[in-house]
Amino acid sequence: MNLLEQAKKARENAYAPYSSFQVGAALLAKSGRIYLGANVESSAYSPTLCAERAAFAAAVSAGEREFSAIAIVGAKRGEEPNEDCPPCGVCRQFMREFCADDFTIRLAKHTYTLAELLPVSFGKENLG
Ligand code: THU
Repeated sequence: MNLLEQAKKARENAYAPYSSFQVGAALLAKSGRIYLGANVESSAYSPTLCAERAAFAAAVSAGEREFSAIAIVGAKRGEEPNEDCPPCGVCRQFMREFCADDFTIRLAKHTYTLAELLPVSFGKENLG
């Protein structure tokens, strides 16, 4: 199964009763292992966790610190995730914590680097 197919599989576990928008992510660590994430919503709305950050939390909690690529798919429940579902701004910054400029972000139709989706970004090196 390629990374996009794994993201589709991860999307099956999305918990999105409020938006009905189901997102799945498959994150490839430099170790070769793949970590899955799905969005997890909350009745209080703001605690909602995006699929991408769920995948990163799983990977980092397992001891991973270096990553090559992530595939992300999203669509309304019952629809095929064939259109691009770009990561939100918070997720882009979250990726930036662990990923270099050339980190690959694979969407349903297009593939980007992190630097393309988050140019002129703030990172830990800016803390001095
Ligand atoms: N969502 C993600 O999981 N990832 C994103 O980057 C964009 C948005 C989720 C959050 C919420 O559960 C639903 O999609 C609608 O915004």
